[in-house]
Amino acid sequence: MATTSRSTAPVYSDDPVRWFALATVVWGVVGMLVGVIIAAQLTWPDLNLGISWLSYGRLRPLHTNAVIFAFGGCALFATSYHVVQRTCQTPLFAPWLAKLTFVGWQLVILAAAVSLPLGMTQGKEYAELEWPIDLLIAVVWVSYAIVFFGTIGIRKVRHIYVANWFFGAFIITVALLHIVNSVAIPVSLTKSYSAYAGVQDAMVQWWYGHNAVGFFLTAGFLGMMYYYIPKQAERPVYSYRLSIVHFWALIFTYMWAGPHHLHYTALPDWAQSVGMVFSLVLLAPSWGGMINGIMTLSGAWHKLRDDPILKFLIVSLSFYGMSTFEGPMMSIKTVNALSHYTDWTVGHVHSGALGWVGLISMGSMYYLIPRLFGRKQMYSVRAIEMHFWIATIGIVLYIAAMWIAGVMQGLMWRAINPDGTLVYTFVESVKATYPFYVTRLLGGLLYLGGMLIMAWNVVMTVRAGKVAVMPVPTVAAAHA
Ligand code: HEM
Ligand code: HEM
Repeated sequence: MATTSRSTAPVYSDDPVRWFALATVVWGVVGMLVGVIIAAQLTWPDLNLGISWLSYGRLRPLHTNAVIFAFGGCALFATSYHVVQRTCQTPLFAPWLAKLTFVGWQLVILAAAVSLPLGMTQGKEYAELEWPIDLLIAVVWVSYAIVFFGTIGIRKVRHIYVANWFFGAFIITVALLHIVNSVAIPVSLTKSYSAYAGVQDAMVQWWYGHNAVGFFLTAGFLGMMYYYIPKQAERPVYSYRLSIVHFWALIFTYMWAGPHHLHYTALPDWAQSVGMVFSLVLLAPSWGGMINGIMTLSGAWHKLRDDPILKFLIVSLSFYGMSTFEGPMMSIKTVNALSHYTDWTVGHVHSGALGWVGLISMGSMYYLIPRLFGRKQMYSVRAIEMHFWIATIGIVLYIAAMWIAGVMQGLMWRAINPDGTLVYTFVESVKATYPFYVTRLLGGLLYLGGMLIMAWNVVMTVRAGKVAVMPVPTVAAAHA
């Protein structure tokens, strides 16, 4: 158990929390910068400069891996290590292993940053990394599980707070998804082939892909919601009972929705329909959770006016509600016939990614970072407010542009003359999309600009603060 040099009182193991929190900001800037570059390349394709490792096809997976696994992943490690200690009132189990997870995860990120531009890929979306990196991910993830569940095991309070249920489900499920989907036969150090073939491969991949959304991009972030919103609002969770129903309903339903990514493919029709039905059901637990988060502000709505951190946390939930309404609609086969292959999907993705995942991570970091460095608040609260507005305007520009572009593309592709020929050539739809790509780029630049303001604010906060050593309370106090 970690102790201070002057007393034997146990202290929280916050080094890994601090490192992961700072890494979140660094990788946020990098991942979003690559996002802006590929948005510019879609607008002006010559920007790949004829260099293979700058080509769109290689930078796109670099963007998705950087924002999901580096930015989102580091935010999840930081917050889960922070929350599990506070709610269990004990330092981390095996803090040295937690530090190793930091080193291991950064190695995974660096390996991705080198191998993806070089064109090494398994060709499975969100699971592109080649087998040696996959093995490293598995080792880091098992170590993460040992630290997290070990800490739950040595907890000093009987109850396991609901945020830990969400973090725990995220950790277990991601291990399962990653190991099953990554089974492959290596033919060299940099090339392997999936152990599955044909439509089975597609099914396993989208069971993985959809649950990557459900568990990597949702469950862990709901863990953040259940801890940081009550903390920042200084109010208990609106309904603890609802949070338990929310948990079980969400994790059960997500598992079956994957086939909505494979509508109108060789996948048996009944499996597509199962995916559609479970996606529609998913609306209920998703909105139950969102309402539980937002209603936590009951009696404290006025705080929204002057607290920019609460604005980040609560507006993220509005985007969560929006994307989890849109997703079930897009999973209806007839709607998907229009939306699939169009920029509508990209709009849906980014209302979840920028609006939900991005804003809740930023809000949680703004809560966490000053405390980790012994300060009451961030260096500049006005800069947080400015970041919030710039990011929100950026999101609205991005997703509105993609929705209009997507519906337009879908309608242009299906328009048919009385003699059965197509009304528009494909290239006409590309030309018509141009102004929307420019608008999306502008939205992305604003969102990146907000992230740069955050990076500056974090540097100033860390410089003005000092590493904070926080004792574990001896009397079990209320955790939330
Ligand atoms: C400055 C911010 C960002 C910009 C400008 C941006 C831009 C882009 C672009 C241009 C694409 C390719 C779209 C296409 O293939 O047509 C893309 C894909 C994607 N981005 Fe972002 N992005 C940003 C932030 C993020 C963040 C923060 C996340 C996640 C937390 C994210 C997750 C994704 C995902 C999952 C895809 C793949 C979408 C799909 O396959 O449909 N992005 N992004
Ligand atoms: C009730 C919840 C949700 C449902 C039912 C749902 C449903 C869908 C559907 C039907 C698609 C289009 C599939 C296709 O045509 O290929 C899709 C794509 C996607 N959604 Fe969602 N969605 C939900 C929530 C979210 C959230 C909250 C996020 C992000 C945080 C998200 C991220 C994505 C991504 C990344 C893709 C693109 C996958 C790809 O093709 O690469 N979804 N979703």
